Amino acid sequence: MKTSKYNNIQVALHWLVALMVLFMLIMGTFVLAQTPNSDPSKVTALRGHMFFGSAILLLTLVRLVWRRMSTQPDHAETGNALLDKLGIAAHYALNLLTLLVAASGIGIAFQAGLPGIVFGGQGNLPPDFWAYTPRIAHGILTKLLIALIALHVIGALYHQFVIKDRLFSRLWFRKRNS
Ligand code: HEM
Repeated sequence: MKTSKYNNIQVALHWLVALMVLFMLIMGTFVLAQTPNSDPSKVTALRGHMFFGSAILLLTLVRLVWRRMSTQPDHAETGNALLDKLGIAAHYALNLLTLLVAASGIGIAFQAGLPGIVFGGQGNLPPDFWAYTPRIAHGILTKLLIALIALHVIGALYHQFVIKDRLFSRLWFRKRNS
């Protein structure tokens, strides 16, 4: 059966993950990365970051599986074939980057023994995380994710306010049977 809108589970997952990623990008950049590992509050900050980061990974996987299992509306069109292809590519890239950011975070955690230190109270944090390759990847990938999210938001606003195709209504809750 054809549909013109995303289903309610997809709407909920989209906005929940979007808010969580935004929160993590802001807190990661302006709080976590600015707090030295010698600061006693760092373990608590890492605990929250690792918990939310892993939850984002899990929810993104659930979102992708749910997407495969349910009927999707057609890709939004702009009237320009190149822009339409870019829009589709940007959606793939957003999902991929989110997964890679979370995976590189988990990479740092395991290389630095963080699960034991942060959740088990065993041992101390290293002086910093820059000796671990996934830390460099995590830094670069988060910057790429910020750039792509900015592009994604600009694209959505272009649909809503320039093309005026009411794109946002596709991504909001609908009543049963509507
Ligand atoms: C999509 C989910 C995630 C987002 C958006 C995110 C975001 C960030 C950001 C913005 C930074 C600072 C980067 C910089 O300024 O160089 C950061 C650092 C970090 N993240 Fe994540 N992260 C995510 C998932 C994870 C996960 C799952 C873990 C571990 C289980 C993790 C562990 C770390 C660690 C250890 C740091 C380094 C902090 C430091 O250098 O002091 N992240 N993250």
